Amino acid sequence: MKLFDVYPLFPIEPVRAQGAYLYDKHGTEYLDFYGGHAVISVGHSHPHYVKRIKDQLDNIAFYSNSVVNSTQTELAAKLGELSSYQDYQLFLCSSGAEAVENALKMASFQTCKSKIIAFEKAFHGRTSGALQVTDSSKIKSAFNGSITTEYLPLNDLEPVEKSLENGDVAGIIIEGIQGVAGIIEPSVEFLKGLRDLADKYGVVLILDEVQSGFGRTGDFFAHQHAGIKADLITMAKGMGNGFPIGGILLSPDFKASFGLLGTTFGGNHLASVACSSVLEIIQEENLMNNAKKQGDYLTQRLSKIDSIKTITGRGLMLGIVVDGDGKALRSSLVTKHKIFTGGCANPNILRLLPPMNITQKECDKLINAIKAELA
Ligand SMILES: Cc1ncc(COP(=O)(O)O)c(C=O)c1O
Repeated sequence: MKLFDVYPLFPIEPVRAQGAYLYDKHGTEYLDFYGGHAVISVGHSHPHYVKRIKDQLDNIAFYSNSVVNSTQTELAAKLGELSSYQDYQLFLCSSGAEAVENALKMASFQTCKSKIIAFEKAFHGRTSGALQVTDSSKIKSAFNGSITTEYLPLNDLEPVEKSLENGDVAGIIIEGIQGVAGIIEPSVEFLKGLRDLADKYGVVLILDEVQSGFGRTGDFFAHQHAGIKADLITMAKGMGNGFPIGGILLSPDFKASFGLLGTTFGGNHLASVACSSVLEIIQEENLMNNAKKQGDYLTQRLSKIDSIKTITGRGLMLGIVVDGDGKALRSSLVTKHKIFTGGCANPNILRLLPPMNITQKECDKLINAIKAELA
């Protein structure tokens, strides 16, 4: 049987990984400034993460959400503490798109409306609802059309208020930092303004933190930089350091009832323990501080390179806008310098999404490689 060929591949097969490094079968070492798409948050095969999952596997790996599962309640307590959202509620699922689907559904349940405001260049996933609010016609089929979405320009409050005046909007969905678009930040004023408008018009503010959450930007969630609270927050990628897990945080205004949301695999014992161990490592190793420190260092050093036009983003979610062929640069970084970085919708932009325990020495390796390539 052949694989359904939807992913363009680098001809590299990592067979082992440790910390910020991947190794192929010949022992060639690759430095990971991509984190497998922002997923590797606490480093590959972190010993504490491996031990917690192995210990759990020796006891119980899975049972359905019909029995008591204290791995979930332990995770909720830790997540509340680290995210400063202690009074919110946690619903667990298995991916980012599934988190977005559940958030859209909750916004609609809460308001009895179905229209959603999203923003230009947004990416929220590939299931039907998530695709509806994703601004990319290339990946949509005719089937993906049940809810109404209005795409508005980022960082412009006026059209948002105009749209809300019609009274038919259930929610506003926005990425903490737009990732797939090329690391584009909503301004602090815009996020504060959205919060005020959501309150004024009684609509649900959904912060999609699937890529920007779990400490990557130096704050637990990127939107916390603006000093606002969301009504619903979607999470996934960095949650499980590679173990598939997603979730939503719901404000106390949302009331649960049996059967309102549900999933077979969400919150299973292994996934919950994987996520708890990620939170323990973030806390124990002060990784949010490290994300900020290394992010500032990278930004400062990289912005001195002539052919780099700007650096966008915060912490370890950075976009390098190059004056030239970013795609070729990304390719040379892998083939010549053995460093993985991420691409995005714009070929001039490289995305940096390394593990949050990356060191200055590893940052220097990347900086020197980029300097050499752009010289
Ligand atoms: C902001 C954002 N939301 C949602 C998703 C979808 O997540 P998943 O691929 O886990 O379904 C992504 C994936 O890149 C994302 O970046």
